[in-house]
Amino acid sequence: MGMRFALVGIDAGKLTRRLSRARHQDVSIARGMWGGYVVGMFTERLSLKKPGLFITGTDTGIGKTVASCAMAASLHQRGHRVGVSKPIASGCRHDREGLVNEDAEALAHFARSPHPLDVINPVRYAMPVAPAVAAEHDDRPIDVQAIARSLQRLDHDSDVLIVEGVGGALVPLDATHTVIDLARWVGYPVVIVARAVLGTLNHTAMTAAVLRHAGLTIAGIVINGYDADVAKHEDASVSTNRRWIQAMTQLPILATLPRGEPDTTAPERGQIAPPILEAAHMIDWFTIAGPSITH
Ligand SMILES: Nc1ncnc2c1ncn2[C@@H]1O[C@H](COP(=O)(O)OP(=O)(O)O)[C@@H](O)[C@H]1O
Ligand SMILES: [Mg+2]
Repeated sequence: MGMRFALVGIDAGKLTRRLSRARHQDVSIARGMWGGYVVGMFTERLSLKKPGLFITGTDTGIGKTVASCAMAASLHQRGHRVGVSKPIASGCRHDREGLVNEDAEALAHFARSPHPLDVINPVRYAMPVAPAVAAEHDDRPIDVQAIARSLQRLDHDSDVLIVEGVGGALVPLDATHTVIDLARWVGYPVVIVARAVLGTLNHTAMTAAVLRHAGLTIAGIVINGYDADVAKHEDASVSTNRRWIQAMTQLPILATLPRGEPDTTAPERGQIAPPILEAAHMIDWFTIAGPSITH
């Protein structure tokens, strides 16, 4: 009732303007939460000179590390000095030297990196949860300066950089920043690693939409875990997902990585099934890598 009284005497034009102002405010708050317009975290200016790729995925455990390692191995094989980075990791194990992350070990191995693990992975948490949650638990916010220093060192020492994100695109880094803000700050074209099986159309389209909304450049999609037998017998979506992902996102499918035999793919132990490495090596990732663009 109160609302009705308030509207008495307001003409339609004024009302529309008021409503659209209110809507605009809502939108800008939402963008602040999830689009990185809130300042405070990534204020340090990165000036990376070498080309690179930022690897994200449609979920955690989707194959970002497998894909990043296979890309790094291929780039190394083609004669490039490959800088690998896992800027932020949670779920790290306690080792004699401190916290160690398996993704960083895997990336170091496949890139034949000369850098110590704390350069490859400057920010580490033990708790296996989103970085914002681990940071809150430890009362230790993400050290963006440490990430900047390590990326600048890798940039100086390498011809091309492969940066693996953490979780998926909207994984929180603190109350107001997500992996998207990290990707924007790093500035490289983004590669989306997607599952080959049922459910991937929704997750891949959502990831592409949210990255586009944030204004990021998307290099394309890597489909991981493709298995012709599953396509034939178990999951009818597998044989059509590639075509539909392409049509829905209007993005190139950069590579389709096969599913390795069980127990042949454990990147943290330096193992990736040869067919996966061979599939990744068919692509010249150096030509897909792009410059770091400040948004
Ligand atoms: N193509 C594949 N074939 C077989 N196993 C795979 C493949 N991709 C991923 N895996 C398995 O899934 C696990 C999670 O993959 P990973 O690359 O670590 O995911 P993310 O980095 O996205 O969390 C790997 O340790 C491996 O055991
Ligand atoms: Mg990983």
